[in-house]
Amino acid sequence: MKKFLLNTALVSGLMFPCLTAGAEELALPQPDNTSALMKIIDARQSGRAYSTKPLSEQELSNVLWAAFGTNSHGKRTIPTGRNLQDLKIFVIYNDKVWLYDGKNNVLNKYSDADLMPYLTTQDFVKQAPVHLIYAGGKKYAEAHSGSAYENVYLYAAENGLATVIRGLIDRDGLHKALNLNDDEVVTYHQTIGYPAE
Ligand SMILES: Cc1cc2nc3c(=O)[nH]c(=O)nc-3n(C[C@H](O)[C@H](O)[C@H](O)COP(=O)(O)O)c2cc1C
Repeated sequence: MKKFLLNTALVSGLMFPCLTAGAEELALPQPDNTSALMKIIDARQSGRAYSTKPLSEQELSNVLWAAFGTNSHGKRTIPTGRNLQDLKIFVIYNDKVWLYDGKNNVLNKYSDADLMPYLTTQDFVKQAPVHLIYAGGKKYAEAHSGSAYENVYLYAAENGLATVIRGLIDRDGLHKALNLNDDEVVTYHQTIGYPAE
């Protein structure tokens, strides 16, 4: 056992010298956050108090484009593993459930089901006028959702909207209600709207 531990220590020390103790510090220059993008990143935050004022269709279009639209050079606004582009964004807007088609910039009516019982684990959720539910192929759904929800955060930060990504949801209930297949998972829910005054 002792020999094994010694060997392990030697090997990890040789193979991963940077992981051994002994601090070497590289003091970085202050980040230059004067550009428009850096200022937006600086402003990003979660918001949990919403006005019931609806989002216009234009704003919704902008939000969804940022999340998973098609950009001016024919690519998605987020990278996707193996270019699968298999993220699904369900949108609760005007009391209906829609599925965003980011290639055609269209919302397709998906369901009349009331999904709010699967989402309202926190009271503020009921106030928000728009809800995004992220789902997709098991392998990359987490990563794809993260890219999309961060873009929505940045759009919100730039445009005076409030948003928060939420994992406190009933994923199994949503999976069934959205009739997803076994290779798909529900990842997160994101509220977006105007901040409460
Ligand atoms: C994967 C993930 C799950 C989260 N789930 C919830 C949630 O269920 N409810 C909530 O209010 N916030 C949730 N958040 C938001 C975090 O609480 C928030 O990002 C964190 O407190 C930092 O605050 P900030 O976003 O304002 O910097 C989640 C964030 C992430 C990344």
